[in-house]
Amino acid sequence: MAAIQLTPVKQGLLNFNALFDTQSQRSEIRWKTAMKLTDTQLEQFDRDGFLILPGLFSAGEVEAIRAVLPDLFAEDTEANIREKKGGAVRTSMGLHLRNELFGKLVRHPRLVEPARRIAGPELYIQQVKVNVKAAFDGEQWQWHYDFATHHNDDGVPEPLALNLHIFLDDVSHYNGPLYFVPGSHRRGPAPTFHDTTSTSYPLWVVDRGPVAELIADGGITPAIGKAGTALIFGDNLVHGSPANMSPWDRGIFSLILNPVSNAQVKFERPEYKHHTDFTPVEPLADDCLLTEPASQ
Ligand code: SIN
Ligand code: MN
Repeated sequence: MAAIQLTPVKQGLLNFNALFDTQSQRSEIRWKTAMKLTDTQLEQFDRDGFLILPGLFSAGEVEAIRAVLPDLFAEDTEANIREKKGGAVRTSMGLHLRNELFGKLVRHPRLVEPARRIAGPELYIQQVKVNVKAAFDGEQWQWHYDFATHHNDDGVPEPLALNLHIFLDDVSHYNGPLYFVPGSHRRGPAPTFHDTTSTSYPLWVVDRGPVAELIADGGITPAIGKAGTALIFGDNLVHGSPANMSPWDRGIFSLILNPVSNAQVKFERPEYKHHTDFTPVEPLADDCLLTEPASQ
């Protein structure tokens, strides 16, 4: 059957669309093929340091995730870190330990399988959060790369972790998208300093001089797309995001997976900022977000 043999990336969108009747059929095939990154995608990841995967999660799946957020954001817990001004939740952390749906999402095959292809078979759940970036109130994330924090704060030895994002809102140029500096991961770790004052979240950040040099080389790619778009990026990739002065929320789910062999050796940050269960994550079924929990 021609439909099963095709590889969307190689055959191109036109042929691909012609073979399927409905948008949902096309989307379903895209999700399943997206679980297996193509050689072209792997080369792109090596070269640029990130991948943008439109339509990886369906509208129904995004809706199921969004539905559990208001209760989680209303919880009085230090794992909900609020913006400096206004009190909106900035980032809501440790979510797989606080909610059953997030317990499934961190084991979703459309996240775990591509991550395993890049970073190896034994990955543990290092960090789980939703970065909220509320309309009008969401502050910036300064220029940084994640390994600076993983290494300095938690003693993670090597920059091997992967950050996997799912857009929970449409993300445009206006509501605070991530900005990637393509290729910055290949220049080695830039010097950093610990910024504890710019926002409510202490972060190891890269200073303006090195950022300007990296951007002179690689430019900036904004990570924009519809809700359900996914991102994968590596631990040394320089990125940041501007404040959200638009009237549109910009929620993004983030899962960081790290090889078990590269686990942290410092245990100073709270559990919700860097999880200490180094059991390798096992993927669930592809429809796990839309199935009810088994009755007791
Ligand atoms: C953001 O939510 O804009 C920043 C995410 C990140 O630094 O991983
Ligand atoms: Mn980051």
